Amino acid sequence: MHTRHAIGVFAAAAWLLAAAGCHDTTVDASRTALSAMPAPAASQVARGHYLAQAGDCEFCHTKGGGRPFAGGRAVPTPFGQIYSVNITPDPQTGIGRWTEQDFYRAMHSGIRKDGSHLYPAFPYPWFTKVSRADVDAIYAYLATVKPVRQAPTPNQLPWYLRWRGAVAGWNLVNFHEGEYRPDPQHSADWNRGAYLAQGLGHCSACHTPKNILGGSKRSRDYQGGTAGMHWAAPALGNDLRDGVGAWSRDDIVEYLQTGSNANSASAGPMTDVVMNSTQYLHRDDLAAIAEFLKVRPESTGKSTSSQGRPDAAAFARGLALYTDNCTACHMSDGRGQGAVFPPLRGSSAVQADKPGTVIHVVLAGARMAAPAAKPTGLAMPAFAWKLDDRGVADVVNYIRNAWGNHASLVDPGIVKAVRKDMTAEYSPARGRITQHPDRPLRRAGK
Ligand code: HEC
Ligand code: HEC
Ligand code: HEC
Repeated sequence: MHTRHAIGVFAAAAWLLAAAGCHDTTVDASRTALSAMPAPAASQVARGHYLAQAGDCEFCHTKGGGRPFAGGRAVPTPFGQIYSVNITPDPQTGIGRWTEQDFYRAMHSGIRKDGSHLYPAFPYPWFTKVSRADVDAIYAYLATVKPVRQAPTPNQLPWYLRWRGAVAGWNLVNFHEGEYRPDPQHSADWNRGAYLAQGLGHCSACHTPKNILGGSKRSRDYQGGTAGMHWAAPALGNDLRDGVGAWSRDDIVEYLQTGSNANSASAGPMTDVVMNSTQYLHRDDLAAIAEFLKVRPESTGKSTSSQGRPDAAAFARGLALYTDNCTACHMSDGRGQGAVFPPLRGSSAVQADKPGTVIHVVLAGARMAAPAAKPTGLAMPAFAWKLDDRGVADVVNYIRNAWGNHASLVDPGIVKAVRKDMTAEYSPARGRITQHPDRPLRRAGK
């Protein structure tokens, strides 16, 4: 393992040096930095690898079926698809000519080597918190990645956003540049957790509501957001219904390590996060994230809106559908069955303010994350083929409001919109957006 790394480092360093020799020698700093690269210590590379996992770099920078870090995965934004780019050490199409300083500037300030702005689909608004030493370690690790020649996929953006200068305006409102500064009011553990969650983990990229420009509403941090395509990311505050108030620190660690616990199971984008990122984090680091999430002021914003219960007729329809289709696994009292079938009663995922995730799961089914630590990988069947929009709305309203659950009502229009997103996600023509090629997570009813 180490030998392979060492050879990789050596080969990459040689390549980088060669590249520096024949091209781009205009900037002096680049020379210095590149020649400093030849032998990053194996420990530095290993640390960089770990940090890259914490930042989920590989998943986002690898398209379905593509070569690692060569880019091309679509990142959905409210304005259109932005494609990740090649960050292998290839000098032509990757970042082979970038210096440590160029790399730090991208991570810290969202600026490319050529001085133009990167789109915030690249999570630099979070990565800016990462320390210089950690960014340098990731750079050292990337130098050991196999170079791949692969040109970028053109973004699908409206004309007014194709000009990268527009991002400067966005940054004025939404970007707060600066490395993480420890908060002396809190423990070292808490600070480590905050550093990871707010930096490389970029948890609030999905778990915080967004403003009209697609920037995070900082005043409502962790109060629930979206991962695009109607996937709702539940609140992570201390509320009981929509939040992790009922979860212990160990529950949070177990979920991040395995994708499920006695309260909930991941099903969509979070399965990707667990499988590609958090499952690899050390227990101490996961415990630190849990500490950070638990020791936060009570969410002040109202998380679960109470637009009343479904009317009696709708509730009866939902109950009938539930009895026919769901009780075998989730039980009539919604308690589920141990670690096998998650409970729906009292579940924060089910009662999340935004119902998108629940609707996705009922329509498309879900396969639980199957990390080494918990290789269950049980599947929830898809109902898209069996239930129409009204039926899905009825059964979802039922589980969100039965057994003491309480959450806002869903109308068939939302179900229709999620169905549309689902088709986009699964259509081979547009590429599979959230699905990892070698482990099908969800299947559309087909
Ligand atoms: C949510 C998806 C996502 C994640 C996670 C992510 N990136 Fe990216 N990254 C992107 C996108 C999209 C772009 C292209 C943005 C653009 O075109 O402006 C990008 C661009 C970059 C660039 C600029 C390259 C260039 O040639 O302009 C670098 C460097 C980079 N990412 C490194 C990383 C590293 C290191 C990590 C992990 C710590 C990471 N990224 C994690 C989506 C992501
Ligand atoms: C790409 C978007 C995204 C990122 C990044 C992300 N999450 Fe999630 N998370 C989700 C979504 C969506 C769900 C809902 C379930 C699912 O999709 O599988 C979720 C679910 C969860 C849950 C379960 C909550 C419940 O009530 O069931 C926890 C806990 C969680 N995420 C913690 C985190 C932490 C901690 C991080 C950062 C290390 C993080 N998430 C990063 C999208 C994301
Ligand atoms: C064959 C067994 C089975 C049946 C039948 C079934 N489910 Fe599931 N369900 C599962 C499994 C397994 C999971 C966990 C998969 C995951 O979320 O990754 C799950 C997860 C869920 C979740 C997500 C829970 C969470 O914590 O995120 C919801 C919501 C859900 N099911 C609702 C339903 C509804 C509504 C029906 C009936 C229309 C139904 N299920 C029928 C097995 C089943």
